[in-house]
Amino acid sequence: MRGLKGRVACVTGAAQGIGQEICARLAEEGAHVAVMDIRDTASAVERCTQFGVDAQGFLLDVRDKQQIHAVVQEIFKRWGRIDIWVNNAGIFDNTATVDVSDELWDRVSDINYKSMFLCAQAVIPIMEKNQWGRFVNLSSMAGKMAYSEEIAYCSTKAAVLGLTRALAVELGPKGITANAICPGPIETEMLKNTYQHLADINGVTLEEWCDSILKTIPVVRFGKPADVAALVAFLASEEAGFINGQAINIDGGLVFY
Ligand SMILES: NC(=O)c1ccc[n+]([C@@H]2O[C@H](COP(=O)([O-])OP(=O)(O)OC[C@H]3O[C@@H](n4cnc5c(N)ncnc54)[C@H](O)[C@@H]3O)[C@@H](O)[C@H]2O)c1
Repeated sequence: MRGLKGRVACVTGAAQGIGQEICARLAEEGAHVAVMDIRDTASAVERCTQFGVDAQGFLLDVRDKQQIHAVVQEIFKRWGRIDIWVNNAGIFDNTATVDVSDELWDRVSDINYKSMFLCAQAVIPIMEKNQWGRFVNLSSMAGKMAYSEEIAYCSTKAAVLGLTRALAVELGPKGITANAICPGPIETEMLKNTYQHLADINGVTLEEWCDSILKTIPVVRFGKPADVAALVAFLASEEAGFINGQAINIDGGLVFY
């Protein structure tokens, strides 16, 4: 166990997929959990409360600065502290560079990257009160490697790494760490939709596409949301206090830097 009893953990984009699993794992470790999403968070909240902690869902569009500040204040009012903030909300985009509209570019940037800056601005003053905090930011292996027709996704996920390092340097002296996670393919709705699209444009079935990807993963399996959640729980713990500003791969051995 990671000893998160009594900690208050907040997760964005937490209604489903990796975000929901992170909430459940942090709850299992004893943290109270703020479950934030633009979608219904009921099932994630229910999973958390099964571990005997307090959990509440919050409607939050991470593009909206005012909403972020309002939700952060609500969380602080309810629990009197914020210890762990997981920036998980993200969207994938698979558009050729010449076809990316300004609107699409801004949407992907606002959700995948600018939101992390806005959330940090709102949360830092609260973490500073206890001179303790953990930011965990979801990047991707696409933050380190490039994929064709993914200019918006790759750029924003690389930007997350710069943002994380900047937070790590600025907040380290205050007892607050910031780390990024770079997952490879993790079995979620996002991955399924992406692979279906790639299978379609390559004229193969989804099964054939998945088989071709599996051959490139040294451990010969796709990741599960629980794999990522376990890493988040560790980075959020006391014993990870000397890990700061890192971009940690969790990809079965796909990327080595
Ligand atoms: N699944 C993968 O293979 C994979 C790989 C690398 C990185 N990631 C990253 O992990 C994170 C989670 O991915 P996932 O696979 O669970 O995706 P998902 O699509 O299953 O879940 C994403 C969640 O984010 C929420 N969201 C979207 N826009 C939002 C907004 N404006 N405000 C608040 N919430 C919003 C969605 O409602 C959804 O619940 C993302 O940042 C993604 O880029 C995923």
